[in-house]
Order: sequence, then C-alpha cells, then structure tokens
Amino acid sequence: MMRTALLSAAVAFLTLTGATNAQPPAEAAAADYRDSTAAVDDRVDDLLARMTLDDKIGQMTQADRDAILTQSDVATYRLGSILSGGDGTVSPNNAQTWADTYDNLQRQALSTPLGIPMIYGIDAVHGANAVRGATIYPHNIGLGATRDPELVERIGGAVAEEVSGTGIDWTFAPCLCVARNDRWGRTYESFGETPELVTSMATIVDGFQGTGGPGSKPSSVLATAKHYIGDGGTTNGTDQGNTQLTEAELRAYHLPPFKEAVERGVGSVMVSFSSWNGAKLHGHKYLLTDVLKGELGFDGFVVSDWAGIDQLDGRTGFTGAEVSQAINAGLDMIMVPNDYKTFIGLLRDEVNAGRIPMSRIDDANRRILTKKFELGLFEHPLTDRSYTGTVGSAAHRDLARQAVRESQVLLKNDGGVLPLAKSGKLFVAGKSADDIGNQSGGWTMSWQGHSGDITPGTTVLEGIRAAVTDPSRVTFDRYGNGIDGSYTAAVAVVGETPYAEGRGDRTGAMGLDTEDLQTLTRLRASGVPVVVVLVSGRPLDIAAQLPDWPALVAAWLPGTEGGGVSDVLFGDYRPTGKLPMTWMRSVSQQPINVADGKDPLFEYGYGLTYDAGTDPDPDPDRDPGDESCTATTKVVNAWSGGFQAEVTVRNPGTVQLTGWEAAWDLGSRTITNLWNGQLTTSGGRATVRNSPWNGTVPPGGTVTFGYTANGSADNLPPPACTGATTP
Ligand code: GLC
Repeated sequence: MMRTALLSAAVAFLTLTGATNAQPPAEAAAADYRDSTAAVDDRVDDLLARMTLDDKIGQMTQADRDAILTQSDVATYRLGSILSGGDGTVSPNNAQTWADTYDNLQRQALSTPLGIPMIYGIDAVHGANAVRGATIYPHNIGLGATRDPELVERIGGAVAEEVSGTGIDWTFAPCLCVARNDRWGRTYESFGETPELVTSMATIVDGFQGTGGPGSKPSSVLATAKHYIGDGGTTNGTDQGNTQLTEAELRAYHLPPFKEAVERGVGSVMVSFSSWNGAKLHGHKYLLTDVLKGELGFDGFVVSDWAGIDQLDGRTGFTGAEVSQAINAGLDMIMVPNDYKTFIGLLRDEVNAGRIPMSRIDDANRRILTKKFELGLFEHPLTDRSYTGTVGSAAHRDLARQAVRESQVLLKNDGGVLPLAKSGKLFVAGKSADDIGNQSGGWTMSWQGHSGDITPGTTVLEGIRAAVTDPSRVTFDRYGNGIDGSYTAAVAVVGETPYAEGRGDRTGAMGLDTEDLQTLTRLRASGVPVVVVLVSGRPLDIAAQLPDWPALVAAWLPGTEGGGVSDVLFGDYRPTGKLPMTWMRSVSQQPINVADGKDPLFEYGYGLTYDAGTDPDPDPDRDPGDESCTATTKVVNAWSGGFQAEVTVRNPGTVQLTGWEAAWDLGSRTITNLWNGQLTTSGGRATVRNSPWNGTVPPGGTVTFGYTANGSADNLPPPACTGATTP
C-alpha cells in the first residue's frame, strides 16, 4: 500500500501557520483523529469536536465531478464526496487517467484545514465499467442464473481490485432489487425475482469490502446496498414508480436482501427513487430511520440517489423544505449532484433555523467519517497504484469467463443440436454476434451503454472462431444473408440493444425486433438447424417463434468475455445455469413470478444440461461418464511469500459425482502441503484428484480440499474441474 506523508504534512503546515479555522477542542479529546492507532470512535469524536458547521455540511454533500468546474471548490466548499455518474469519463479513458484524476481531486480535499479526505463513488455494477479496458462481468441477472454465491463474492473481489486501481473508493453496488415485473428497465440489475436468490448473492458485499467489513483488505471499496426499498416491485414495473404493497408484502419480498447486506457490514445504502403506497422513499422516515437504522441496525450512511430529493415536492429543483425532509427522514449524504453551492447554502439555513437539529447533522457526519476511517482514507488517501495493473487482467477475464459459462441457461435442445461439433461448418448471424456493446448492455462505458466495439473483449463470434478446429469454416453475416443448406448448424445471436433505467422500461410488446425476426426467417429458410442465443436483460416474449428453434440459450448480458458462451455451445462446459426469472408465455402475463398460479413458458429455476455422451468431439482423455463440476479457490490466510487456500468443488448437475479432479496452472507458485485430495504436478500444472473419502458429491453438493503454497496469493487462476459419474 502506498503510504503518503501528504496528509500529515498538510495538516502540520496549516496548524503551524494558524491557517486552520478548526476550533481546538474545549477539553483534551481521548485521541487525536490523525492517530491511526486510536479507536475509530475516538478519532471520530475528536474530529467532530474540531469541525465547523461548514465542515459538517460539506461532508454531507456529494457533487458530480463534471459539475465541479473549479477544482478548488472541493476545498472551498469542504466537499466530502464526489461521484462520476453513468456518463462520467476521462480522456484518454484508461485506468491511469482515472487514478490521476482521482488523486488531483483528493489533494484538494487534503488541503483543507482538517484535511478530511473525500470519498469518491461510481457505478461499478458489473466491473469497473466506466474504464475502457476493464473486465466487464455478466450483469446481475446472469449472476443470479449461476446460483453460485461464492463465485459472485470472488467477482466482487476482482472488481474491488480494478476499482481501487483507478483510485475510487466506493461502488454504488450491488443492486439488491427483487425484480417482480420484467417490463422494468432495470430487471437486468437484479439477481432475480425471489428475495431468497437475491439475498444469497449479497456475498458480493464481502467481495467488495472484505469479509471483515470496509477496509478489511487492501483493495477494499465501500459497497452500497441499493435501492432501498421496493424499486423492483413497482406497479407495471415502472422505473421510479409506486410500489403498492402491504407492509407485510414489502417486508417479505424486498427487505431480506438489505437485512443480509447490513449483517455483512455494508457501508452504505442508496435510497430508491420509487414510492411506497404513494410516499417517496427519499422522505420516508419510518423506512429509513425506524426500520433500516433502528430495526436492522444499519450503522453505515444513507445516500440519496441522483437528485433524488428534488422529486419530494413534485417540482423540479430542490428547496430548503426538501432538504430538511430528506435529512430529517434519515438521509446522511445528498447526491446533489450539480448545484452543490445552493444545496450547501440551503442546508446551512435549515440548520440555523432549527429545522434540522444539530444532533442529526452530527449523526450523519459520524456515520460518514466512521466509514472513511475504516476504509483507511486518512492514512492512504491516494490511489494504490499496485492495483492499477489488475484492470482487465488475464486472471480477471478468466474469472469473468467462468461466470459467463455458469450463467448460460439452456432452455431448449431438441435432437441434441447442442453441443456443436468444433469440426462443423457453422453460419453465425444476428446483430449481437459480434458486438461487445450489445453483449455488455447498459452501464458500460456510458450510462446507457451502446452497440459497437466499445471496449476490448471477446465477442460471441470471436469465441466461436477461437473454439473451432478450422475458423475458415465459420461464416458470419449479421442478417443471415448467404446461408444455404451446406452448413452443419446456424447460430443466431439476437436480443436487445443496450439501455439503462427508465429508458429500458417496456410498456408494450416484449418480443424480438424486426431485424432479428427477419434474420431468423432467413436462417430457417435454409433448412439448417438454428441455435438461438438470446442476449437480453430479461426474458423476452418468444413463445411464438420457439417451435422453429431447435435450441435456445439465454445468455443474458455476458460482458466482455463472450468466450464463455462458446464454451457452452461446444460443450467445453456443460450448461448449469438456472432461470433467475420466470419466463413468460405471453407479455400479457406480466408480472409473472414463481408460484403465482400462472402458466409460464419456462419455470423459475428451469435449465437443461447436456446428457453424458453428447460430446460431439469426444475428448480421448475424458471418461464417458464425465460430468461438469466447478472449483472455486478462496485464500484463507496469506503471509509474505506464501498463502493457504481452500478449494470448494461443487456439483451443479443433476447426477451424483463419484469422483472429481481440479487442475490449474501454478505459475511460479509451489504447493508445500495439500489435504483432502491427491496431488500430482507436471509441466507447471497442479492436478488434484479426490481422496477416497470425498469423491462422492451429490447434485448441488460441495466438498473441499486445501493447500499451502509458496508464492503470491493474488490472481489465482480458477481451477478447471472434471467430475465422474462412473464408479
Ligand atoms: C442513477 C441510478 C443509481 C446510480 C446513481 C449514480 O440514477 O438510479 O443506481 O447509482 O444514479 O449514477
């Protein structure tokens, strides 16, 4: 971790020259806030005692970087937080420029009399997705399809490293929304339609922050449970709409994920734009203070959504009354985000008029400062450049590819069209076959995302070409022009183009667009079996076309590692994904959810796999009874020069495993001890087979083995796992 003397020098200089307006505490505080060995509570007490009202108001103010036209405003207005909204970017767009930008703004904050570092937030919702070259993971709906909370935690850890490498300390993620109506433009930001599934994926909070909470690991970034509460339950799926539920229903469907996140020590909660039975969440004291802070015991800070308080009175802009209502309801930090000067003035007026008690201001500051101290921002305020190189790293892309593999849901496979033979002559078509932008979706390089070659990655077509025996036998035409009966199969990659938030609301039809339908018609006319790969942020209304499709894979929004899709198409990974959302038979069924009595096209939790022996290119080293398994590695202890790891082998299939093996490249590492497995190493690769006592793994079950090793614990490649079902 890079230490900086900058902070202590600035404070020492200002103190010596008397340039600080800090009031010396009336009585000697239990600790000096600059003492990193002191208890956080004592540091907060000391700092609060030194702060002026303007210092405290500044801490509660979050400004969009693009609105800060004079960088010195960060110091002048004591801004406690800066964000980059969805369209925030830097030029040139790379990790180094982001880190330099962050450091320059942080130096402004450190130049203030008390030198309180600012905290910088961004929507890293499926990777450091504002940074060109970053690893882009599947959006949450695909991660929900993996049913693999441990994998999702590891993704959080990898994202935290890439975000830290850009200097940024705080991600506005995860969205713990329970999407109940697929018309909602943010359905893909949800892990699924049930509170149980969404709650299970709150493991990503530990990935972002560390298992010991904010600051518990060097790459820790503050996580945000959002959007509290009921954003996924609005009537008709209208974004920022009205959630019309009884309190019992609201608590049953939408509260559990937030309860889990709070228990995992999530550092911040973002308030939903939506309303509950007509009352705006941004002014809802019962839900924000009594339930979230009181009943759930949330001890982090509550941040508004983008200009969220402006909506309280139904008129544009914000007023002192709205400021008071929001902060008295329990908001601690306001994402203004543009007119921060007006906001600061209004907040000061509201406090001076007695409409916001000083106790509320102090409580908000205590919450914010506690997280800043826990994150270590006072000791390490500038970018830790040791993480900058992790942005888009091979190890992270491997992890993302594993997530893509596990997120694919096989919905139809008549006649065993899948897996495809790598020796086949293939025709690939569809607007999303060769389009990183489409396969990444919204919140990628810009708020709404957009089609095209927007960032480095592997498209589905590139994955196919890399997998086959002879790439010259793969023909691509976006519209299907040129196909004839000479092809073994056609792969049509179709679906939705990128969108975000309300612009993605679908109030009318939810089927494929005209281009896709025309492409599919062309392919079908050739008589060649068509495999449809659906790249979309939600289930689509495809029942009418389904009879013409021998095979269908829901790919969701896989991100930059399209090779994970081709891994499934060719059987290099047998599909294990399960639907995170009930799939409508008709758009007229929306909302449609598990156990609601309606008759869906595919049930929540549905997902096929390949029967053993369907491998079209039999691998001579593969036993006929091979079944897929997954192996995930967790570093449980690390020391200089070595580490201890635990590997969990999981059977995601439907058939009991009678044996397994996990293999991975060691790189420069050497295994010094291993238990609950039988190790062989050759050619720099470790292969661990089960011990006699842990070869049996029931469907959905797990077993573990562990090892110690010399070398770095960073960027461990995920082991490849092969299971066996023959005795
Ligand atoms: C947006 C979204 C929220 C996001 C915030 C900052 O409007 O509702 O999810 O974190 O603004 O970009």
